[in-house]
Order: sequence, then C-alpha cells, then structure tokens
Amino acid sequence: MLKLSIMEDAMAATSQPISRSPAGQMPGLSPGLPLPDLYARVSRHVPAIEWPALAPDIEAILRLKREKNAVILAHNYQAPEIFHTVADIVGDSLALAREAVNVDADVIVLAGVHFMAETAKLLNPGKTVLIPDMGAGCSLADSITPEDVRGLRAKYPGVPIVTYVNTSAAVKAESDLCCTSGNAVAVVRSLNAPRVLMIPDEFLAQNVQAEVPEVEILTWAGHCEVHEQFTPADIRDVRESYPGVTVIAHPECPPEVVAESDFSGSTAMMMNFVTEKRPRQVVLVTECSMADNIAAENPDIEFIKPCNLCPHMKRMSLRNIRRALETMTHEVTVDPALADRARAAVERMLAVRAR
Ligand code: 13P
Ligand code: SF4
Repeated sequence: MLKLSIMEDAMAATSQPISRSPAGQMPGLSPGLPLPDLYARVSRHVPAIEWPALAPDIEAILRLKREKNAVILAHNYQAPEIFHTVADIVGDSLALAREAVNVDADVIVLAGVHFMAETAKLLNPGKTVLIPDMGAGCSLADSITPEDVRGLRAKYPGVPIVTYVNTSAAVKAESDLCCTSGNAVAVVRSLNAPRVLMIPDEFLAQNVQAEVPEVEILTWAGHCEVHEQFTPADIRDVRESYPGVTVIAHPECPPEVVAESDFSGSTAMMMNFVTEKRPRQVVLVTECSMADNIAAENPDIEFIKPCNLCPHMKRMSLRNIRRALETMTHEVTVDPALADRARAAVERMLAVRAR
C-alpha cells in the first residue's frame, strides 16, 4: 500500500478556504447567483421536492448578508445546502482562523462549532460574531478545563503546552500556542523542544508523535466523539468490499485507523488530496458532509461510506442561520480578562506559517 505523508507541514496544502463575496469573489460563484444555479450546485444532495422549502431561507440569508454587511464562515462539515449556497468562506479550522483575520465585514456568522466562533471573535474583537446555535459544542473542547492546564504546567514545568484549537478560549489562555490538525506537525517542530505537551486530543497527539519521533509528546485523554468510533476493522472491511479504494482518515482518528489509511490530514487537506489525485473510489474516514461537499463538484469520484455525523456541527441549519442574522443572535463574546492571552496563543500558531 502506498503510504503517503501524514499531516506533512500543511501550510501550503490548506489551499482552502474558498472565499466568496463580499470577502473575496470566487469566479462563477457568489451569493448573487440566481436560485436555480444555486440549486444546481446541491442537486445531488437536496431532492428537488425539498428545494422550495429551503429557497426562501437562502434568499433571505443572501439579502440579510447585504443589509448587515455580514459574512458567513462555514466549516467543511456543514451540510451542502449551507456550504454551497450561503457560505462566503469555507475551510478547515486553520483556514477559518486565517481568513477571520482578513474579513472585511461588520458581522461574522460562524456556521460551525462554538470554539471556531470564539477563535473568530478573538481575532476580530471589534466585530460582531454570531453563532446560530449556542449548543454547538465539541467533545474535545469539553474534555479539558483551564484548571487542568494549570495542573499540567505545575506537573511539567518548562514543557511547552500546545493546545488544539478545539478548546475554549479559557483553555487557550493557559497555553503557549495553539495548533490545528492542519499544522500540528509544523507547530511541534517549530518549538525545537525535546518534550511537548499536546492537549487535549490524545489521538491527534499520537498521530503527530509518529511524524515527529525526535520529540517526546505528552498528551491528555480527550477524544473526538465522531472520530473515536472508527476502527481498523472498518477500514479492512471497506478495502475487502472495494478493492483498490483510497482511504483517507482525519488525524483525530485512533492511530491504528490512520495506520490503515493511505493518507491523513485536516479536512482541507483531505479535500485537496481528493481533488488533486482524483481517486476513482474513496472513503473519507470522517464526518459525512465532507464527502457530500466534495461530491457536489466532482461527480466522477465515487465516495464510499463509512462516515459519522457530528451532532454539534449538525445544529447549524439554513433556518437558524437566517434567524441569527434577523435577530443578531447569538453573540459570541470572550472574557476580556483572558482574551489577550488566548489571542496570543492563536497568533503564535498563525505566525508559525511564516517560518
Ligand atoms: P479540521 O481543522 O481538520 O477542519 O478539523 C476540525 C474538526 O473539528 C474535525 O473534527
Ligand atoms: Fe468536535 Fe469531533 Fe465534532 Fe470536530 S467532529 S467538532 S472534533 S466533536
């Protein structure tokens, strides 16, 4: 089996986001596109009979964005009817954080989970950041508290603490710098330290450890409730049923799953891999909407299950995005007492790219 690099420095590979107007026009795609053209983009995933129920919300969102000078940042796990019709910027966590710095709008609606909205707010303290559903959390963010990080610092004095962006701003504030799945290897290498604490995703840390054997990586027992469910047996089963299939796993999967795959990387890296290598059949070992979003524009590639749904990402809908813009709720704020320290941890991560 051809084994490709896992999370090789993703600085160039994260070629998403797709920026759309008003943050940046993408040829042939804009919120000004007529509704039938928008439908054509999602017709493989939205039955024609359902479109009349969605179209009024889409129209209202496009109008509200203009009226309120708002942009929608959507994570790659958003459903196709959000990802392909109303989102201005789509991408992985790293791309959304990077693009949040450049957003030229008064209002940012984050179609994703709460930690992503907090990161956007940290990087845009003067803008209004909205999340359509405050309950859109993350099992990784819930797995660790600021007190836990202070305890680790006391236990391992002098060991740098790299915190996955899938954490609260309060946890980021206790950290030295952040990472995402798209730059974790580069961030660890940038420290030139013999030992690094990488929290809270145990599996991501173990997958990075395999790439950076010269550094001792200490970790925490947090897991993604979506990716921890995949097993090596799932991969073997799919290979048996579909000989020659290409298997791509997100690095939040257990290391034994990543070891059985052909490639591993952030959601943007997975997308780039598929659109560049164009495998005939592929399985994306991650959240289900990833395959749907790529398939919408690549009908020649066959996407095989398994995949799992993230219940937090799936709290986003056209209906609650519309309501967020109509009512300007729910506003995401960060405690000023910790915002500067949390922002510094995110900015140190973003600076790693330049080295
Ligand atoms: P990415 O940074 O790869 O988009 O991952 C975010 C996430 O929450 C995956 O579960
Ligand atoms: Fe969190 Fe996992 Fe959902 Fe990503 S997929 S937001 S890591 S629970």
